[in-house]
Amino acid sequence: MTETRHARTAPIYGNMLEMIGNTPMLEVTRMDTGPCRLFVKMESMNPGNSIKDRIAVSMIEAAESKGLLKPGGLIVEATAGNTGLALALVGSQKGYTVVVVVPDKMSHEKISHLKAVGAEVVLSRSDVTKEHPDYYQNVAARLAASRPGAFYINQFANAANREAHYTTTGPEIWAQLEGKVDAFVAGVGSGGTISGVGSYLKEQDDSIEIVLADPTGSILEPLVNEGREVEPGSWIVEGIGEDFVPDILELEVVDKAYRIDDRDALLTARQLLRDEGVLAGSSVGTLLCAALRYCREQKEAKNVVTLICDHGAKYLSKMFNDHWMTDQGFIERTKHGNIRDLISRRHLDGEDFTLEPGEPLAQAVRRMRMYDVSQMAVLDEHGRVAGILDESDVLVALTGRKADPHSPVSEFMTRKLETITPDATLEKVLEILEDGMVAIVCDEDQYYGLITRIDVIHFLREQLP
Ligand SMILES: Cc1ncc(COP(=O)(O)O)c(C=O)c1O
Repeated sequence: MTETRHARTAPIYGNMLEMIGNTPMLEVTRMDTGPCRLFVKMESMNPGNSIKDRIAVSMIEAAESKGLLKPGGLIVEATAGNTGLALALVGSQKGYTVVVVVPDKMSHEKISHLKAVGAEVVLSRSDVTKEHPDYYQNVAARLAASRPGAFYINQFANAANREAHYTTTGPEIWAQLEGKVDAFVAGVGSGGTISGVGSYLKEQDDSIEIVLADPTGSILEPLVNEGREVEPGSWIVEGIGEDFVPDILELEVVDKAYRIDDRDALLTARQLLRDEGVLAGSSVGTLLCAALRYCREQKEAKNVVTLICDHGAKYLSKMFNDHWMTDQGFIERTKHGNIRDLISRRHLDGEDFTLEPGEPLAQAVRRMRMYDVSQMAVLDEHGRVAGILDESDVLVALTGRKADPHSPVSEFMTRKLETITPDATLEKVLEILEDGMVAIVCDEDQYYGLITRIDVIHFLREQLP
């Protein structure tokens, strides 16, 4: 267990399904683990990039063996995350049609991903609670009942979910550490992982501690630590945390729980990438943060295992995007105590996108589309603002004036500018915005950035208690 194991030759597989499970482990060596050794099991290396590949196989095969799923049949599941992707992948390899019911707040990226893997996506309302007939799980149950040959997977109540972890994840951890496991840290989505792995490990050695990593706002941490029932809140990390106790969750295997704030979770996941080179999902931040706290609290050396439940590529536009982190208030920015604090994309910090007067209009249009901005400052060779190019300038240029897209931006930009210095008042900014302009913040020798309506709205929202 102590030395690195190198497989001499990687195997050749005959089918993607054979590549599920048997995931490697990585020892965390650059983060502070106190007196302990911390190992992470790389579930992101499953073909569907998450731990859910395992349960997709076990739940489908259990339904097949019970005769609930016939060749060419239909699999229905209600999920906003990795389980849908895993079912779509495994289902397609086994010749099933997969229908995934998702709440309509889910990102376009995820819906596109599901469709790309071949799933049929049904949108349901995200503004209703469990009791409502349009709640996504109720929609899925109804859909499965109404379509002949359909099987509703329901991972929250499906015993084959827990079984996958009891028969594969748990034994793999035990074998990889040659039985020298002192603690296992996991989150709860459906409860399958912690119940299956937890039961297996405790059967091998009942002194192994099973530790729950729970997002702040979930009802589970107070229930485990104090037996207290609380009202659920909300959280950002995806895939774990609960507002109810799932049927398959065996809370009796859980020894203790850590409550982890979104901020700590996301910053830990980012640190994992910097320190250890592992690009992992947001909930991994919760698990790792809890595992590191557990490790540092120990008085003696222990071997601790946690999971890299999913891959971080899905989170590039959120957790790994500095602007998103700043907008959420998870990354602190320097405060200037003046109107510069309203600028969301700061020029001196290299956060904004600008144009040069000689750049062709077509290039400007490409940039606006690429960066999803509706206006850009045009800076001269001294870095001073020469003009602003916005969507309406482009529209007029291309339609009204039938401009040549290769002509320079300087021919189309607005030169009538409303500049303010950093010591201007908020009232002055509002006046400019009310006139339909953007406020350009600069002084004699420096351009600082633009203030748009949405920047003021963000600023005012932050001032609310
Ligand atoms: C992204 C993600 N999905 C799923 C799980 C576990 O989920 P479940 O309780 O459904 O097995 C975890 C954490 O353990 C997770 O981080």
